[in-house]
Amino acid sequence: MHLEVSNPKLSPTNPPRRLLLGPGPQNAHPRVHSAMALPQVGHMDPGFMFIMEETKSLLKYVWQTSNRFTIPVSGTGSAAWEAAIANLTEPGDVHLICVNGYFGERALDMHSRYGAVIRKISKPDGEVFALDDIRAGIQEHKPKLVWLCHAETSTGTLQPMDGVGDLCRENNCLLLLDTVTSICGSPIYLDKWKIDAAYAGGQKCMGCPPGVSCLSFNDRAISKLEKRNSPVASWYLDLTMIKKYLDVPTGAVRTYHHTAPISMIYAMRESLQLVSEEGLEAAWARHKDVASLLYKKLSEMEGFEMHVKDQAIRNPALTTVRVPTDVPPDQLIKYVREKYEIEIGGGLGSLKDKIIRIGLMGYNARPDNVLLVIAAIKEAVDAIRGKTTTV
Ligand SMILES: Cc1ncc(COP(=O)(O)O)c(C=O)c1O
Repeated sequence: MHLEVSNPKLSPTNPPRRLLLGPGPQNAHPRVHSAMALPQVGHMDPGFMFIMEETKSLLKYVWQTSNRFTIPVSGTGSAAWEAAIANLTEPGDVHLICVNGYFGERALDMHSRYGAVIRKISKPDGEVFALDDIRAGIQEHKPKLVWLCHAETSTGTLQPMDGVGDLCRENNCLLLLDTVTSICGSPIYLDKWKIDAAYAGGQKCMGCPPGVSCLSFNDRAISKLEKRNSPVASWYLDLTMIKKYLDVPTGAVRTYHHTAPISMIYAMRESLQLVSEEGLEAAWARHKDVASLLYKKLSEMEGFEMHVKDQAIRNPALTTVRVPTDVPPDQLIKYVREKYEIEIGGGLGSLKDKIIRIGLMGYNARPDNVLLVIAAIKEAVDAIRGKTTTV
């Protein structure tokens, strides 16, 4: 037999060993990697369904919700986001998108692809929305759905949520919240805040490798789904079908929809188990304390400025920093990666080449990592300025 494509004959997979202190993913706890190596079972196996149900209960805990429909989604945070949009949008629905960074800009595109009529309100990068801004937007545009980003990863803000849920209920619209960079790192109370639908990724403060995400719908969101006039525009993410696999009464038959990513569910369960062992409030407090140490160290460095001035609206898990004008961010990032195997992030969207982003999330949210990254950044600055470096 003649092969048309020759064997590339490579060596075993050998990625670099990096300390991931950027906007995500983060390094997962060794126990999470061990969980991924556990034996494979089939996606219909009762043993796997048991693990799936445990994962769902842990997701409810970290989101502080009793929403029955709280599930892992195959794929990264964008898949869970797209699932929320696909299932909650009928062509012609008005969506009010609150844009204060790159992910808000992306929402305009994603939601419009599912037929939503897009209306937006905006805030400059590094600012958050006041309740009055959102109220004015709702009154002007009368949306069926409001999309809000709890933690805008491009700018480092954390959106205050007081009153937003009530506002949406008073105006009969759904509230969809992006919690990708806040889940497990900052307080989230889906039920108390009256969030109708939320999604998150696993690879940030949850401490899971990328590849699985999660979604939660309350009764209002489920009712929108059940009353749809048009079919869900995505087959893969159609929750009316996925429900028959993931959300059936105890003992009822489950119907195959797509093969669940078994090892990724093990990883998500173990990441959430670690949060549960630590305690959710303790995990939130740890992210906050580690961020305070980072702020203190940065404040001692000349020319480094916090991009988000008001500490009350900073996401502790992700800090955005303006660096001295004679230090190009890309050179700084390259230096700490090449010399110390540490990944930090650059700016995204309008902040490209203007800031660096330091993530201290999940397993990586530890004081030793703050001291390490600060030392590496200081050395990079000296090296870029042509001063002697100490190693
Ligand atoms: C706020 C926010 N939303 C959505 C996403 C998309 O998630 P993913 O890259 O996991 O698909 C990200 C990713 O960083 C994010 O930060």
